[in-house]
Amino acid sequence: MIAAALLATLGMQAARADAPAGDPARGARIAYTCLGCHGIPDYRNAYPNYHVPKIGGQHYGYLVAALGEYRSGARPHPTMRGQASSVSEQDARDVAAYFSSSKPVLSAGKPAGTAPAAAATCVACHGPDGVGILPDYPTLAGQHSDYIEQALKAYRGGKRQNAIMNGMAASLKDEDIRALAEYFSRQSPSLWVPLPPTRVAAR
Ligand code: HEC
Ligand code: HEC
Repeated sequence: MIAAALLATLGMQAARADAPAGDPARGARIAYTCLGCHGIPDYRNAYPNYHVPKIGGQHYGYLVAALGEYRSGARPHPTMRGQASSVSEQDARDVAAYFSSSKPVLSAGKPAGTAPAAAATCVACHGPDGVGILPDYPTLAGQHSDYIEQALKAYRGGKRQNAIMNGMAASLKDEDIRALAEYFSRQSPSLWVPLPPTRVAAR
């Protein structure tokens, strides 16, 4: 009873915290540069080679936090560090409001299959359907598997710093990582690639 009340309260706080404090219309204009990479389906990072992550439909709270982590250096990717430090705090909130609410235009449709054993702990935060249960827990459903794979390896090796995820990834073997990445990437409804407005209009 108490636990249920507590969960209900947490849920309400989560909903409030994830209500964008940014302006999506202003964010759409700032997002123009971002779409040069994030708005191209199957666009890849060159060295090492993996897909640019899908950020359409990602949680607002997580997007703001991720941009802060590139600025602080907790996430080392040089291009994204440059991108994140070229936007103000308000710009970051606006652009996050835009990406978290932009219309879905692409999604993965493959069946997810059976969850690998290693996913049992993950779903407590990332959700049984791959949708993060709190605004700070990223949605993984439909994310590119090679991006998930390199993210988990970056946590495991300490290149990407996050107290929770460094611990979670520490004991994962390469084959667990591959299976987890494949599983979450097949979940749907999925994150999407936000196409530039001109291409959306042309569809
Ligand atoms: C030159 C290509 C490029 C541009 C331009 C770019 N990004 Fe990125 N972005 C990437 C790549 C590659 C990654 C993955 C980096 C990593 O592995 O940490 C990424 C990661 C991210 C992430 C983390 C996603 C996640 O799931 O954790 C966010 C948020 C993000 N970008 C937002 C933006 C915003 C906002 C802009 C515009 C201000 C922008 N990006 C511009 C290439 C780009
Ligand atoms: C206690 C909650 C919790 C658990 C359990 C958990 N995660 Fe996470 N996960 C997080 C948080 C918080 C972040 C964001 C960390 C950051 O900002 O870098 C995250 C980030 C991630 C990311 C990066 C996503 C992106 O877009 O860059 C991946 C991939 C991931 N987790 C996979 C997993 C897997 C696989 C497991 C199980 C082995 C797991 N997580 C267990 C909370 C959790």
